[in-house]
Amino acid sequence: MLVFYEVTQACGLVCKHCRACAQTHSLPDELSTEASLGLIDQLSKFPSPPMLVLTGGDPFCREDIFQLIEHAKRVGLETSITPSATPLVTNGAIGRLKQAGIHRMAISIDGADAETHDEFRGFEGSFERSFEILREARRIGLPTQINTTLTPGNFGQLDAMAEMFSELEIVLWSVFFLVPVGRAESATRLSPDDYEQAFELLWQQSQRRSYLIKTTEAPHYRRFAMKKQREAQAAGDDSTEKVKPPFQASGINDGKGVMFVSHNGEFFPSGFMPIRSGQYPQENAVEVYQEAPLFKDLRNANRLEGKCRQCEYRTLCGGSRARAYALTGNPFSEEVDCAYIPPSQEASLDNSSDSNCDAQ
Ligand SMILES: C[S@@+](CC[C@H](N)C(=O)[O-])C[C@H]1O[C@@H](n2cnc3c(N)ncnc32)[C@H](O)[C@@H]1O
Ligand code: SF4
Ligand code: SF4
Repeated sequence: MLVFYEVTQACGLVCKHCRACAQTHSLPDELSTEASLGLIDQLSKFPSPPMLVLTGGDPFCREDIFQLIEHAKRVGLETSITPSATPLVTNGAIGRLKQAGIHRMAISIDGADAETHDEFRGFEGSFERSFEILREARRIGLPTQINTTLTPGNFGQLDAMAEMFSELEIVLWSVFFLVPVGRAESATRLSPDDYEQAFELLWQQSQRRSYLIKTTEAPHYRRFAMKKQREAQAAGDDSTEKVKPPFQASGINDGKGVMFVSHNGEFFPSGFMPIRSGQYPQENAVEVYQEAPLFKDLRNANRLEGKCRQCEYRTLCGGSRARAYALTGNPFSEEVDCAYIPPSQEASLDNSSDSNCDAQ
């Protein structure tokens, strides 16, 4: 299970797609140090302790960030951090992260060249800074991850990015598929067919890279990867052994193995799904995750609607609940950006076109 704690909404960058609508200063209702420590205590009480991701905004905009990391370590939480690539991430600060007990640092890179990335992040020099940070982490032995948000603007650079990242000895490449929330509300998304093409490229890359590849807010990659694995098995030769299974936290989705706590302590199924389900400290994080009706419904594949309801992959995939909500206002409606038509729906489409023929 992953718990994302948005320690602040402050950030020095101004990405056009930012779900948090991050801005330069901390908001007045940001949880205090004391409250944040209490929240971390509470998160450590899950029956099986989650992986804590300290995110933002830019977590480095909080002066007490090392105190929070040390506390998370003390209470037994494995912790990652996602700083924004700004001058705040000095070599000294990267060293302190390791000392304080951070398990992994994730840095965003959104293009294969400075022009694409810097335009995306709204900050000249951000591309170079990201590489400097990742190289320093590699030098001191701090494990790293790269996050990339895929849009029509960088879609054509997927292979080039995969190649470029191999030099950095990262552990994981997480490819985010745009969710139209926050500043991305009216951003252009990839078409469903583009998703399938992206999945094919990611699958090919996952077979040849030493780092793992996962998708974020595109659970239908699991459907794609499972089909690929089955095809390899059906081929029946020794190729099956050579097929590397993709890294996918099995079946996790918004509210299902994922929880998000905002800068002011509100609980959400994910950072991309702004439906509030409680508030720290009035409510308890573990109880909200286990008992809140929205969270329970999101873990029930029978609540899905449209083609996701009819789909044989609904438990493994279920579509991005955040994108469904962003586009329709209904967190259970079908994933709009999926090209797959489940066989049962195909059959009913065939029947209805047959009956149309009969009518003519
Ligand atoms: C919320 S950010 C926080 C960490 C840090 N500020 C950063 O941008 O790397 C984590 C990841 O979410 C991505 N992201 C932000 N808004 C998004 C959106 N609307 N859709 C998909 N991914 C988004 C960012 O590009 C980043 O890679
Ligand atoms: S770096 Fe992250 S938090 Fe900052 S504006 Fe960009 S997406 Fe938002
Ligand atoms: S139809 Fe829905 S459940 Fe099936 S693969 Fe597409 S997004 Fe996933």
